[in-house]
Amino acid sequence: MKRIYVPAAIAAALGVVLSLSLSVRAQTASDTPYMSKCAGCHGSDGAGSAMGKAMGAHDFTSAEVQQMSDAQLSDIITNGKSKMPAYGKSLKPDDIKGLVAYIRTLKK
Ligand code: HEC
Repeated sequence: MKRIYVPAAIAAALGVVLSLSLSVRAQTASDTPYMSKCAGCHGSDGAGSAMGKAMGAHDFTSAEVQQMSDAQLSDIITNGKSKMPAYGKSLKPDDIKGLVAYIRTLKK
């Protein structure tokens, strides 16, 4: 009788492992604040989506944006600028710091 339960136990264990690895994968790239909040206008690569460019967003990979100081970038993210929405209320200061650091990684 005991044998019947072994495959069921293995299947249950595999199910747990699979769902764990799936939830871990969901945490990567597409789940970062940048991808969920910014990429719609600034593009997944920072160069700007068609919509973002039409609104006047600048290419994050360009010298023009990279020359701005960390303080200027975080100020724009926190307080917004013309069509750029303000994120000071919806993001924590640490998240904004992380986003500035992320923008730095986009430099060509
Ligand atoms: C609704 C579209 C939109 C969203 C969403 C958006 N932005 Fe912007 N962003 C803009 C526009 C438009 C500008 C240009 C503002 C200007 O200079 O007039 C801008 C400017 C910026 C700048 C200054 C450099 C530049 O391109 O002029 C930074 C830095 C920035 N955004 C970061 C972010 C971050 C980080 C997020 C996500 C938390 C985000 N933006 C979400 C539209 C958007």
